[in-house]
Amino acid sequence: MGNFLQKSALTGFAVFALAQPVSAQPADAGAFGRRLYHDKAVCSFCHGWAGDGAGEGQSGGGAANLRETPLDRAQIIEIIACGIPGKAMPHFDEAAYTDKRCYNSTEADLGSDTPPLPPGGVLSKREIEAVADYLRAFVIGRGAVTREECFETLGGRVRACEDYPAR
Ligand code: HEC
Repeated sequence: MGNFLQKSALTGFAVFALAQPVSAQPADAGAFGRRLYHDKAVCSFCHGWAGDGAGEGQSGGGAANLRETPLDRAQIIEIIACGIPGKAMPHFDEAAYTDKRCYNSTEADLGSDTPPLPPGGVLSKREIEAVADYLRAFVIGRGAVTREECFETLGGRVRACEDYPAR
């Protein structure tokens, strides 16, 4: 990333693209990915509604804090599609280990380390990309969870949001 920024500074063009504030996007940018994260794929069950790793008690815990992930887009897409071998992170590409598309391994290669199927729905390639783009635009690097973000994400003045500090 450091490298990329340096190069951008030289070309000027990419700097303009980088400088676009999130608010320049249409109001519903990320709405599709957001719905997948919260509803269809239920990433929130383990990673929490805010992506901070505070999921539901029944999820077993230990999910990564996605707000602080150092991973790039391609790595995030791979992890959503393939899960993480030996960990609770599920694979959302239903056919992930039927051939060698993930980490060059099949279920037979990984045995009991094969990532599980998700507790919610599996995702298409397009949906996986939408979740990754939603995370990159609205979750990663966002800092501490605020009360405003809680109201905004949970849709209204939810009592539990009072526990978070105001911006
Ligand atoms: C069943 C629980 C569970 C669900 C559901 C789940 N995850 Fe995870 N996820 C985990 C766990 C546990 C880890 C941490 C694995 C480890 O120890 O490195 C993880 C790690 C990750 C990572 C790696 C982050 C990093 O910095 O290393 C990403 C990205 C990720 N999850 C995204 C998602 C997305 C997006 C969804 C929904 C499409 C999702 N996860 C659904 C449990 C879950």
